[in-house]
Amino acid sequence: MLLNGQVALIVGGGGALGRAVARAYCREGALLAIADLHREAALKTLASLGCRDKGLALAVDIAEPAACQAVVEQVVAHFGRLEIFVNCAAICLADPLLEVTPERWDKVFAVNARGAFFCMQAAAKVMIPRKYGRILHISSPASRLGFPLFASYAASKAVVDSIVRAAAVDWARHGVTVNCLVPGRMTDGMIRSLEEELARITEKTTEELQADRTHGLPMGRRVSPEEVAEAAVWLASNAAAYVTAERFNFTGGMEL
Ligand SMILES: NC(=O)c1ccc[n+]([C@@H]2O[C@H](COP(=O)([O-])OP(=O)(O)OC[C@H]3O[C@@H](n4cnc5c(N)ncnc54)[C@H](O)[C@@H]3O)[C@@H](O)[C@H]2O)c1
Repeated sequence: MLLNGQVALIVGGGGALGRAVARAYCREGALLAIADLHREAALKTLASLGCRDKGLALAVDIAEPAACQAVVEQVVAHFGRLEIFVNCAAICLADPLLEVTPERWDKVFAVNARGAFFCMQAAAKVMIPRKYGRILHISSPASRLGFPLFASYAASKAVVDSIVRAAAVDWARHGVTVNCLVPGRMTDGMIRSLEEELARITEKTTEELQADRTHGLPMGRRVSPEEVAEAAVWLASNAAAYVTAERFNFTGGMEL
């Protein structure tokens, strides 16, 4: 087992990718803390793993820096340590560029950018003194491509790419690796509600829009959260000890 006995905190663990990562980590022997805005969603993930007794389900709003600190403290209080931190929490709001408001921009940045940073910081404060840690963020092809209907999301993911590089360089000497994993267009998760919204804005049916956005992909299909989760296992494992500051594409060539 690649993660045997390691304590992993998965924030956003109630969502589609978080659940798939939790399942893969559980299979590889990790002890799991699943945190989500909705504790019910975190509990559901734990229950689906059949390891509810071994795991911890927590509520956290990562838009609040104090809550980022508190969730890490809860994990350490329960397990006594933290080796792996995965941030799968994010939101995406669709708005034509001329209609983006400061409030909606800030809402996205509070979770995707500031939340990502302060959760990572809280996790690193535990990992650095112990000279070991694996930090994994989830970025998006949107951070590099032009998606005018969700510019705030795309920009917030560019922040993720950037904080990964800064933290990776700073913490490499302390045995803490920091990477981000970039899923392509997935078969599940936030993309469902996003595409309903995009269909409304572009006056297409959701089915039409989804078909266009699938057929345009180099592989002609979307990627499942379970496929992406396998890369999250590898990046958290000892096999990836020398991998840091990476923006690891799992996009099926989408970015080309
Ligand atoms: N679905 C896709 O096609 C796709 C593609 C590329 C990247 N991504 C990225 O993958 C990651 C996972 O996305 P997903 O598709 O599983 O989405 P999802 O909506 O299924 O999961 C996101 C989870 O984050 C939680 N969350 C939202 N705000 C939070 C907050 N303030 N505090 C704590 N938790 C919060 C939600 O409750 C949800 O459970 C995200 O970073 C997303 O940007 C997704």
